[in-house]
Amino acid sequence: MESVFKEGNVAVVTGAALGIGRAAAHRFASLGMRVCMVDLTSDDLDDALSYVQGAAPDPDNVMAANADVADMSQMRKLRDAVKGRFGPVDVLMNNAVTRVGAGFWDDLEDWHRAVDVNLWGVIHGVRAFVPDMIASGKPGVVINMGSKQGITNPPGNSVYNLTKAAIKSFTESLQHHLRTGDNPAVTAHLVIPGWTTGGKREHKPGAWLPDQVVDEMLPRIENGDFYIVCPDGEVTREMDRTRILWSAGDITENRPPLSRWHGGFDDAFKAFDPD
Ligand SMILES: NC(=O)c1ccc[n+]([C@@H]2O[C@H](COP(=O)([O-])OP(=O)(O)OC[C@H]3O[C@@H](n4cnc5c(N)ncnc54)[C@H](O)[C@@H]3O)[C@@H](O)[C@H]2O)c1
Repeated sequence: MESVFKEGNVAVVTGAALGIGRAAAHRFASLGMRVCMVDLTSDDLDDALSYVQGAAPDPDNVMAANADVADMSQMRKLRDAVKGRFGPVDVLMNNAVTRVGAGFWDDLEDWHRAVDVNLWGVIHGVRAFVPDMIASGKPGVVINMGSKQGITNPPGNSVYNLTKAAIKSFTESLQHHLRTGDNPAVTAHLVIPGWTTGGKREHKPGAWLPDQVVDEMLPRIENGDFYIVCPDGEVTREMDRTRILWSAGDITENRPPLSRWHGGFDDAFKAFDPD
C-alpha cells in the first residue's frame, strides 16, 4: 500500500516546538507534506517553524498554530484553521506532553493539568480530527505517543504513568473501532519511545535523539505495526520484552505491583527468561 507520508498529504503534530514533535514535523516537511505545527505558546515554536520550513520544498507548506491540547474548543478552532489552509488531514500526531505533577503529593492542580494535557489532549486531538479523516474515505494515520512508563509503571511519576497507561488503552480501543468501522484505511498506532533527548535537555550518552525515534516510527507505521516500541542506547529490544512480560507477570503470578522495584524479587527478575 502507498505510504501516507507522501508529498501533498497533510500532517498535524502537537507539541511540535521541541523534541520528537519537532523532529517529526521536520521529516514530514522534508517529504513534501504540508505540516501544521501546534504548541502551547510561540516560545520555541517560532524557531521550530523556521527550522521545519527550511526542510520544506515550499515554506508555505508549513504553518504554526498556538493551541492548548487540553482545551477542546481550541482544538476545534485548530481543526478549522488547518482545514481552511491545507484541507483534510492525513496524519495526526498527538505528541504534546507536560511533566508537571511528578510527585505523588504534588499540587492537585498539577495532577489535573497533567491528565488534561497528556490524556485529554490525545482524546481531544482524536475527536477534533479523526471523524473527518474517516469521512474522507482516504487512508490516514493517527499516531499517539505512549511510554514504557505506561506499561511497566516504574515508581517516580505516577500521574505521567497513569496518563500513558490510559493512552495505551484508548489507542488500542481506537484502532479496533477504526478497523471495524466505515474507513479501515485510517489506522491508529501507539509509539513508545525509549529514553530520548527532548525539551531543552542536554543530550546524554545512552539517550536516542528525536530523529532516531522518527527513523524507527515511519517504516514501522508503513509496515502496519500498532505497537512501536523504540529501544535506546541503553535498553535493547530484548530488555524491553523481558521487562514488559515480567510486569504482566505481576498479575498472573500473584506478585505485588511494581515487583521489579520491590526489593524482594531482584534475584527472580535477574533469572527471569521469557523464552
Ligand atoms: N523524551 C523521552 O524520553 C520520551 C520517552 C517516552 C515517551 N515520550 C513521549 O514522546 C512525546 C514527545 O516527548 P518529548 O520528550 O519529545 O517532548 P518535549 O518535552 O521535547 O516537547 C513537548 C512539547 O509539548 C508542548 N506542550 C506542552 N503542553 C502543551 C499543551 N497543553 N498544548 C500544546 N502543546 C503542549 C511543549 O511546549 C513542548 O514543545 C511525549 O508524548 C512523551 O510523553 C518521550
